[in-house]
Amino acid sequence: MKILVLGPGAREHAIVRALLAEPDGHEVVCAPGNAGIAAEGVETPALATDDPVAVTNFVQQHGFELVVIGPEAPLVAGVADPLRERGIPVFGPGRAAAQLEGSKAFAKRIMAEAGVPTGRAAPVSTADEAAAVLDEFGAPYVVKADGLAAGKGVLVTQDRDAALAHVTTWAPHGEVLIEEFLDGQEVSLFFFADGHDVVALTPAQDFKRIFDGDEGPNTGGMGAYSPLPWVAEDFVEEITRTVALPTVRQLESEGTPFIGLLYCGLIVTSSGVRVIEFNARFGDPETQVVLPRLASPLSRYLHAAASGTLQAQPAPEFSDEPAVIVVLASEGYPGEVVTGRVISGLEEAAAVPGVHIVHAATKRRDDGSWIATGGRVLGVVGRGADFATARTRAYEAVELISLEGGQFRTDIASRV
Ligand code: AMP
Ligand code: GLY
Repeated sequence: MKILVLGPGAREHAIVRALLAEPDGHEVVCAPGNAGIAAEGVETPALATDDPVAVTNFVQQHGFELVVIGPEAPLVAGVADPLRERGIPVFGPGRAAAQLEGSKAFAKRIMAEAGVPTGRAAPVSTADEAAAVLDEFGAPYVVKADGLAAGKGVLVTQDRDAALAHVTTWAPHGEVLIEEFLDGQEVSLFFFADGHDVVALTPAQDFKRIFDGDEGPNTGGMGAYSPLPWVAEDFVEEITRTVALPTVRQLESEGTPFIGLLYCGLIVTSSGVRVIEFNARFGDPETQVVLPRLASPLSRYLHAAASGTLQAQPAPEFSDEPAVIVVLASEGYPGEVVTGRVISGLEEAAAVPGVHIVHAATKRRDDGSWIATGGRVLGVVGRGADFATARTRAYEAVELISLEGGQFRTDIASRV
């Protein structure tokens, strides 16, 4: 199949790797991709991936048989819609269904209609309204900006003044929600969705805070592991039945079918599982540990979801071998980032048994050396027969990479 993957990051690198690993020998192009994806021998053309017209022209010009949209921005911009109107199989929801990620208020409404378990939430627009709700819900306080904010819109804090300040910062940009704090382990569970049916992948856990011990500000994700040996045996079945299917059916009944990847961000609380957020795309970095464990061909599910035939597919199989990813970030991340620094030791790291590297923000110079070009630079994925092995390998490899000022957490999957 001739497949176009849209997106620039390590998630797209993982998707591309999974497609290339299939026995069918697909022709894979990734736009804009990154230097790590290009180093796999994949073409990475420049393309305005948030522009529906530019993407549609490119797809038609090159005759792609499947388009896979990685990040949220092109989804929310409606890139999937004109492709689908032209009969091109596209994995990723249209603009309307992407609101499930693009608007937290929309997601809360869908959950309420579909009877999906989630925390209480109240929209606020002034400091006075906010103060009343904060006092009603109590500490810790959870304040969320409604739209896409690249992970920066959410504040979880014990500090009431900081919570109020977050409301005042974001209120001019749109709706702000205050949510009930949910206490428990977080789980990310992905579903392929074809507008009517869903097929579950396998649970993963993401580490969102910058520092060890879940300290410091939220990031896009500093590490992840999969599987989760501590979830209940019927966890996936339960979430399929109580969360994913009702959500997809609700969107279908509203005339905005969800076709693509439904990311369920969950918290396992003492009184049951609750949804904290939906995303409309593969999670990053969870995808980097979920897809290496997928033993069935990824393209089969992407294509079946895009063409409404998921029900006819066998359940995907996953290897029992754990995968652990440790993300290497630039100095300053998640704040003001120092870029342009040299990365060395990549070859040595990739030579550690059971290890591979996915790139997020790197550039290769003419002399073959690598430099970091963004906040999350790359991820080191370790696999092995058990968690201790997978983890030791990932850390051995990340220690071999040098990046001045580089940061990584040392406690990814340490408590599994
Ligand atoms: P979100 O972008 O909504 O996923 O929020 C980012 C992170 O903030 C989540 O992964 C959680 O770690 C934390 N968080 C969000 N909402 C809540 C909540 N209601 N209770 C506790 N933690 C939350
Ligand atoms: N890892 C969290 C996300 O992809 O939103």
